[in-house]
Amino acid sequence: MSDLASVAKVMGGRAVRRIAFDAETIQRRVAQMGAEITAAYPEGDLLVLGLLKGSFIFLGDLVRHIGRPLQVDFLVASSYGNGTVSSGEVRLVYDPETRLDGRHILLVEDIIDSGRTLNRMAELLGARHPRSLALCALLHKHLAPGLKLEPRFLGFDAPREFLVGYGLDHAENFRHLPFIASLVE
Ligand code: IMP
Ligand code: MG
Repeated sequence: MSDLASVAKVMGGRAVRRIAFDAETIQRRVAQMGAEITAAYPEGDLLVLGLLKGSFIFLGDLVRHIGRPLQVDFLVASSYGNGTVSSGEVRLVYDPETRLDGRHILLVEDIIDSGRTLNRMAELLGARHPRSLALCALLHKHLAPGLKLEPRFLGFDAPREFLVGYGLDHAENFRHLPFIASLVE
């Protein structure tokens, strides 16, 4: 999937600045992160809580590399319309019925950009008295001043470009790419 012709085909001809992270690089790092998480949580319930939709592929790959008991649930938070710039407003579209108090919560996010979504999630989840609350993010643009929850597990530092693939979308396209590409805007 990394030759130019198949990239152009899977992207429907949309211009790509470059492949920021290829599929092999992502898979290798995600496996390492699973091992880091396995080692970091010795006992107690672990709830892996994915932020939809962006985290769905990352979470699916990640949990298969975590060698301890866990449960999975999802939250939907939305701060982008169809554009490439955050609208600033964070809406919580679904709040899990799942009990959070007394459990280790690992929040799984695709990318940290402005940090607004995460700051809001950290407030909402912290108020539910989890035993611990930690963040696992695949990508971090390091733009956000004063994050309430710094990632305890981080995949990669991200370029400050608009990225798509491996769960990340532009107007709901490109989530299915096995690599992460930087779009020509
Ligand atoms: P934040 O609240 O600005 O940190 O952005 C949160 C969400 O915006 C992320 O979870 C992504 O779903 C989306 N997002 C931020 N940056 C990008 C990007 O470069 N490409 C695609 N989605 C992005
Ligand atoms: Mg997201």
